[in-house]
Amino acid sequence: MRGQLLKSRFSLIITLLCLGGLLTSLIWYNYISLCSTPNLSAQSVSTKSLCFNRSNLSSKCHGLEEAIITQNNKPVGSEIVYDGSKKTLKVTPELFSIFMKEHPFSNKTLDTCAVVGNGGILINSSCGEMIDSAQFVIRCNLPPLANGYEKHVGIKTDLVTANPSIFNYRFGALNGPRHPFVESLRRYGNSLLLIHAFSFSAYTAVSLRAIYTINDFESPIRPVFLNPEYLKSLHLFWRSQGLRENRLSTGLITTSLALELCNNVHLYGFWPFSNHPHDLHNLTNHYYDDMQAKKQFHAMPAEFDLLMRLHSQGILRLHLGDCPTGGK
Ligand SMILES: *[C@@H]1O[C@H](CO)[C@@H](O)[C@H](O)[C@H]1NC(C)=O
Ligand SMILES: *[C@@H]1O[C@H](CO)[C@@H](O)[C@H](O)[C@H]1NC(C)=O
Ligand SMILES: *[C@@H]1O[C@H](CO)[C@@H](O)[C@H](O)[C@H]1NC(C)=O
Ligand SMILES: *[C@@H]1O[C@H](CO)[C@@H](O)[C@H](O)[C@H]1NC(C)=O
Ligand SMILES: *[C@@H]1O[C@H](CO)[C@@H](O)[C@H](O)[C@H]1NC(C)=O
Repeated sequence: MRGQLLKSRFSLIITLLCLGGLLTSLIWYNYISLCSTPNLSAQSVSTKSLCFNRSNLSSKCHGLEEAIITQNNKPVGSEIVYDGSKKTLKVTPELFSIFMKEHPFSNKTLDTCAVVGNGGILINSSCGEMIDSAQFVIRCNLPPLANGYEKHVGIKTDLVTANPSIFNYRFGALNGPRHPFVESLRRYGNSLLLIHAFSFSAYTAVSLRAIYTINDFESPIRPVFLNPEYLKSLHLFWRSQGLRENRLSTGLITTSLALELCNNVHLYGFWPFSNHPHDLHNLTNHYYDDMQAKKQFHAMPAEFDLLMRLHSQGILRLHLGDCPTGGK
């Protein structure tokens, strides 16, 4: 009975995948012809906004100056308005003193960036070498990189994000011994640690403890705060591009930043479905565990649809298969 049910669910998934693939190719075809045709006919004008324009992203969101809270964009006395609640926080001299002095990305344009999601699709992908060959590598939520994962996910890290809930569930809210936390950061070297501290006020205190810990232990990692104002403008921007969801995932936030920062953006480990696109074998949710995400928070398939659209328009490159290894 149960087996039967699972079996029919499985075949339903496969059917949906195939159908989705078919629909997507049709849609791709339309987008490609639409986005590369200079003179659009009147009837297709409503879909014109679905063609992505990088300079519009920069002019609406200013990621290179605004994505991170700095002493420039948040002076003493100014207010931080949380993006996930209506709360505000006044910038005191003490808070100000831990902000980065200048934005690390100002006037910087990089050639190739890799944004690494944590999807189970990376297991046995052999993509580590390709990921590490990028000039700038972005990773999400303090992922493990050792224990045999290196070959498939790489090791180079220039920016790594942290959702503060990870300080709670992995490091005892940093109320006890703190060296395990500092030790765990060693593998990221002197990369930027981008902390999502100002979405919900409940996470601010633990985020500050994380920063004080890093400073007190003189860890080389460079902690910075994600600016909630940047998130608000990103949210509006992607909404104008047809994405309907309440909160953007870390993957889309870092991809957006990469689109402003880098000429060539490569995405790895982004695949929100439970079967591999090539041979349909079952995938775990992350490459390192099978913990389920909070579904109510993110509309992953909608975001993925957006990423595929950007891929088909040549704006970024989504890697969904295994990577070639060793000197071809
Ligand atoms: C894959 O997942 C489906 C649905 O969860 C399950 O029925 C099936 O047994 C799994 N297959 C393997 C090989 O683990
Ligand atoms: C980009 O912005 C310009 C000016 O605001 C607007 O006319 C154009 O439609 C936008 N393009 C896209 C693809 O949104
Ligand atoms: C993108 O938008 C800018 C400003 O709105 C415009 O000058 C540029 O031509 C657009 N690029 C493309 C490829 O549509
Ligand atoms: C950096 O960009 C700002 C604003 O676009 C500009 O005023 C400044 O001159 C630039 N600095 C350098 C070193 O290019
Ligand atoms: C990955 O490769 C290893 C070694 O070849 C194999 O034992 C393992 O089953 C593979 N895992 C998956 C999910 O394919």
